Amino acid sequence: MKIAVVGTGYVGLVTGTCLAETGNTVTCVDINQEKVDKMQQGQIPIYEPGLEILFHRTIEQGRLKFTTVLAEAIADAKIIFLALPTPPGADGAADLSFVLGAAKDIAKLVKDYKVVVTKSTVPVGTADKVKKVFAENTSIEVDVVSNPEFLREGVAVEDFMKPDRVVVGTSSEKAKKLMEELYNPYVRSGNPIIFMDERSSELTKYAANSFLATKITFMNEVANLCELVGADVDMVRKGIGSDARIGKRFLFPGVGYGGSCFPKDVQALAKSAAEVNYDFSILNSVMAVNEKQKVVIVEKMRKYYKGDLKGKKFALWGLAFKPETDDIREAPALYIIDELLKDGASIVAYDPEATANVRKLKGDTIGYAKDPYEALEGADALIIVTEWPLFRTPDFDRIEKNLKAKVIFDGRNLYDIQKMIDCGYYYNSIGRKVVEA
Ligand code: UDX
Repeated sequence: MKIAVVGTGYVGLVTGTCLAETGNTVTCVDINQEKVDKMQQGQIPIYEPGLEILFHRTIEQGRLKFTTVLAEAIADAKIIFLALPTPPGADGAADLSFVLGAAKDIAKLVKDYKVVVTKSTVPVGTADKVKKVFAENTSIEVDVVSNPEFLREGVAVEDFMKPDRVVVGTSSEKAKKLMEELYNPYVRSGNPIIFMDERSSELTKYAANSFLATKITFMNEVANLCELVGADVDMVRKGIGSDARIGKRFLFPGVGYGGSCFPKDVQALAKSAAEVNYDFSILNSVMAVNEKQKVVIVEKMRKYYKGDLKGKKFALWGLAFKPETDDIREAPALYIIDELLKDGASIVAYDPEATANVRKLKGDTIGYAKDPYEALEGADALIIVTEWPLFRTPDFDRIEKNLKAKVIFDGRNLYDIQKMIDCGYYYNSIGRKVVEA
């Protein structure tokens, strides 16, 4: 099938590349000339495991193309994906100007039947707004479909190729048939394509992300309580997670959720509810708790150092909001850095992928190490913020040699408590017993 993808951000690029991989011909269009030039030369603008190989292969085989010219991208396309940003506006509601603007541009160009798919996370009612834009700007038949993405950064290719489910919101039989044909190769294992109306589909995305953010937040609160009552959150997690109704996943406490989706979507759903005079109060609590959780490690440090962090030097492992990505949007590490600098401490950070992005944002206010052990040199303590696999089994002898004191604050519960006792560390993690040196 011939497909156009408008917007080559994270979602657009993964979608376009994975659609090309299974034999479709995809033209990705973006207004950023420099980015398009680079992609035409085979340079991939994002880090996502497994994507690069598909990107190169599909370009080489002529099924993945890039352009800045919208008319060129959509001319032969049967399906046009809109993968454009919907940033939160000043009032917290998603800003639809990119999506509606692109719809208008497309409407003025279409010459035959098209299915226009909103892939961006958009508030309930957006499909209707997009339909209105087409109705006002063209007499050609266009079906507007909602098809939210559930890709997780770091495993996006796998999530696209083998989705747990595909959600398609449409009231058109013709569009439904085309979407079914498009997605069939990805659900061969029997996972469903769930068809529904546009509004339910739009709400599904927000409800899914808000539910997961709530699940994590609930566990963060359980962890905080564990510390106060002498329970171990790892045990509680296993105890509740083996109940199939609860499930084992997304029960890991830590330094709060971050990233480009959860914070934005929880806020947008609360806002959408408020607009129809519904107080979705649980979401307000989730947001408030998550704000506090992002700096829970700093609170632990303030307590340990009796409120005086001035002049202390800390090694910080992990800047990305989660492993296997260079994404630092809403990354807890940024909040932790700000708090520590405010208290007069200095920081040397190490991250396998996200250093360049943090350097752009924070400049020389912190130091950047080339490897995890360099960050530790002369530091008063190690702080772990992102659970990169590389941090899971480090060389504890080297850690001990480089650190000034054997002190670890672990925001991701990477190490076994007994191991830390045996090695003689002061070890403070989340929702578990504090190991005194
Ligand atoms: C999320 C959704 O999972 C995905 O379906 C949607 O399309 C986009 O948003 P992503 O933001 O890439 O994906 O990351 P995810 O792996 O879901 O993690 C989100 C945040 O929750 C991270 O900050 C992560 O560290 C945190 N998290 C996750 C926890 O703190 N504990 C957990 O148990 C799981």
